[in-house]
Amino acid sequence: MSTLRHFYRNIFTETILFFAVLVQIISGLKLFKSNRSTAKTGFEKLHIWTGLYLAIFLVIHLSAVLVGRYFLSLDTNFYFGVAGLNSFPLNLFFIPYYGLAILSFFGHNAAIHNKKMKSKILHLTPEQQSKTILILGIFVTLIIFYGLTNHFKGVTIPEEYKILIGK
Ligand code: HEM
Repeated sequence: MSTLRHFYRNIFTETILFFAVLVQIISGLKLFKSNRSTAKTGFEKLHIWTGLYLAIFLVIHLSAVLVGRYFLSLDTNFYFGVAGLNSFPLNLFFIPYYGLAILSFFGHNAAIHNKKMKSKILHLTPEQQSKTILILGIFVTLIIFYGLTNHFKGVTIPEEYKILIGK
């Protein structure tokens, strides 16, 4: 994060990034409304529902980052992201909240891949390729959660981040 921040957390890139996310949220909600009733296949339904979840998630997620940065004056680093995930009972919210976000990202891409892709890759049909993206998403989610909770050693939340978990 420290390395990548030089690229994504400067006024130029961050303005473009936030604007892109805003466009994505607004256009996504419009697309959800217009395509909701016509979605019939599994992938079509996955497409619209993961899109809706990503739109809601991004509004909450980016608001939280901005509140943390400007109102709580916290460095929105790893500990900011995972404080809730590593404390009971808040993790009952954060596990599905983050888990569905990552799964929705892969689910959304798998659905778009299924819609656009016409040819086989390594003997796999477009539908099999899309299912592979979904399976990859499940593995990536598990690996990320392993990293964010450091399952064997646990994560020690520094004092200044305990305000996030009501301590
Ligand atoms: C386990 C899941 C996630 C965690 C723990 C997490 C955590 C964080 C943290 C700590 C930041 C602040 C970064 C900084 O201040 O440098 C951040 C920013 C951000 N996240 Fe996430 N995030 C997660 C999932 C996602 C997903 C799935 C998306 C998009 C689909 C996303 C989009 C963003 C965006 C656009 C920013 C703003 C970057 C900026 O401040 O310039 N995040 N996230």
